[in-house]
Amino acid sequence: MIVDNFRLQLGGKEYVPIVIGGMGVNISTTELALAAEKLGGIGHISDAEAGYVCDQIFGTSYTANKRKKYSEYANNPDKSAVLFDLHEVAEAQKKYIEYTVSQKTGNGAIFLNCMEKLTMNNASETLRVRLASAMDAGIDGLTLAAGLNLRTLDLIQDHPRFRDVKIGIIISSVRALAIFLKRAVRLDRIPDYIIVEGPLAGGHLGFGPLDWHTFDLRTIVTEVLDFLKKENLHIPVIPAGGIFTGTDAAEYLAMGASGVQVATRFTISQEAGLPAAVKQHYINAEEKDIVVNMASTTGYPMRMLRNSPTLSYTMKPNCEGLGYLLENGGKCTYIDAYYKALEEKKPGEKIVPPEKTCLCTGMARYDCWTCGHMTYRLKDTTIRLADGSWQLPSAEEIFLDYQFSKDQQIRLPEPAKTA
Ligand SMILES: Cc1cc2nc3c(=O)[nH]c(=O)nc-3n(C[C@H](O)[C@H](O)[C@H](O)COP(=O)(O)O)c2cc1C
Repeated sequence: MIVDNFRLQLGGKEYVPIVIGGMGVNISTTELALAAEKLGGIGHISDAEAGYVCDQIFGTSYTANKRKKYSEYANNPDKSAVLFDLHEVAEAQKKYIEYTVSQKTGNGAIFLNCMEKLTMNNASETLRVRLASAMDAGIDGLTLAAGLNLRTLDLIQDHPRFRDVKIGIIISSVRALAIFLKRAVRLDRIPDYIIVEGPLAGGHLGFGPLDWHTFDLRTIVTEVLDFLKKENLHIPVIPAGGIFTGTDAAEYLAMGASGVQVATRFTISQEAGLPAAVKQHYINAEEKDIVVNMASTTGYPMRMLRNSPTLSYTMKPNCEGLGYLLENGGKCTYIDAYYKALEEKKPGEKIVPPEKTCLCTGMARYDCWTCGHMTYRLKDTTIRLADGSWQLPSAEEIFLDYQFSKDQQIRLPEPAKTA
């Protein structure tokens, strides 16, 4: 039994049941998403810090202009006036998504991972603009992630594509699913797919920093499938988190899942946005190097490599240019932690890194090395080169390994041809 024996049915279309999960900020690049789409699967881009991402790709100046506009707040812990221009949010979103979807060549689809905890000092309006612009730009699907808000569907219910765009949610428990569905049923717009993310995933987690290991994906998926059956709801269920081999994936499909969402294996692909040197850190990581901590300002636990540079940040909050994680009223726990650390600094000594990190900067600069629990197994998926570094597989090689491998085997990439 292999993944290729199954297909994901979604809105009258059929896909290879492999979804590459969204990885902000621009780890799941356009190129990575397109690789899945070309092979008939589903690729995600993430709209986290879309303005900043546009600056990197297209040379726009959204970040520099915003920083200039609000420069007077650089030394002020009160960031309530540091707001995003909604026209620019819409423009950046459209630019990035049109650029991606216009390059589709296959039978797959491109979805957007929309992290709702990106509150941007104006949670509802910025979210409305992000989602509406994504639909305007022709995105195939919207995956509502971290911070799932019951009112999100209300925000976009008047958009002409509200019923045609695919809408999915990421949940980590039946309880969260049941609450969301109640609201969705009232709007007569139930989600088109449900991603069930377990405790071994990368990024932010829907589990506590101390008890995540007491949960397991298989149990939660079984509970979700049972719940949907009881409610007579036919919504594709897509497990995520720790699905490392094609055999792992096929087992979920055999138990009734419609697809799988995977990410960690692709973090080291040539197409992923992480710098090449960081990909080597991921591959070299041992299990003890992978931690779940509360350094993220979102309030959610996050999994990352212990030696992520972001964990030793002592920089001034960087909200004037970025500020994507500012809550309404201009609050961020890094601002509080930074000024507290500054106050406690002894004369002549350096400031001690606060317990929170400037995640906007950490993610933008690829200094927050978030990763899935299985990262320590990445070295089993590729080849060591003569100089001791690891070959980076292509996204296609990883995708096809998931699709066709069996018996827990992992097909190593073709050795790169040397000049
Ligand atoms: C580097 C990395 C970054 C991630 N970033 C996000 C994100 O921005 N939003 C999100 O909803 N999920 C994020 N995730 C979770 C993935 O989309 C996916 O659901 C999960 O990691 C799948 O498990 P696996 O990594 O064990 O395959 C991230 C995962 C990784 C590895």
